[in-house]
Amino acid sequence: MRTPIVAANWKMNGNIQLLESFAKQSWNTRSAQVIWGLPSIYLVKAKQLGLSALAAQDVSAHEKGAYTGELSAEMLQEVGCEYVILGHSERRSYHQEDEALLVEKCKQLKKQGLKAIYCIGESLEEYENQQTDEALKRQLDPIIEAGLLDEQSVIAYEPVWAIGTGNTATLKYAQTVHAKIRNMLKEKYATIAPSIRILYGGSVKADNASQLFSGEDIDGFLVGGASLEIQSFQGIIEAIS
Ligand code: PGA
Repeated sequence: MRTPIVAANWKMNGNIQLLESFAKQSWNTRSAQVIWGLPSIYLVKAKQLGLSALAAQDVSAHEKGAYTGELSAEMLQEVGCEYVILGHSERRSYHQEDEALLVEKCKQLKKQGLKAIYCIGESLEEYENQQTDEALKRQLDPIIEAGLLDEQSVIAYEPVWAIGTGNTATLKYAQTVHAKIRNMLKEKYATIAPSIRILYGGSVKADNASQLFSGEDIDGFLVGGASLEIQSFQGIIEAIS
């Protein structure tokens, strides 16, 4: 039995006032685990305000040292962070993050006992050229081959064409892709693949969450825009409860 996850990804949005108003709410965590992917600078405050299951949105590939501006896995762990969103398409495209780098980042997480929310997904061009399978393989295989996944790992399937566009994938398409991802996991991790949560991300809203969640291999959501507004985020959690 996989406990569903609804994970917020605030990206570079929000402020302390918004964080305080989120922390004041009571969140329904009976049927889903709620994860807070916040700007790292707010993680300490979030913890003080009582939010748990905190996620950073990036981590350094290095353990420590002269890497100005970076945050190590150990630092994130020290302030109570449990998860790190890795390989989001915005990091892949704006910061040229590739699989080789992500493998290194994943190793740092593992050393510190942090859990990855590892993002994969095809671009619009790949989608239009029916190259989704190749894209997923390219992004997932190196992490699988390096033996970096365990039962606690989370995969987020986010078709790039669906992120922030309002073009949510259909249930049929998303479920088909999720099942393929689970099969890819099974090849190497036969025993744990059935336990790994595979989230869908890309224009998830309260009004499409319930239908998407009916997909057998859709174990919850990674939510961008709709996680910045209390009611819409609550609506998504309620939709799968
Ligand atoms: P979105 O973003 O919900 O705004 O489409 C999802 C994400 O990028 O994680």
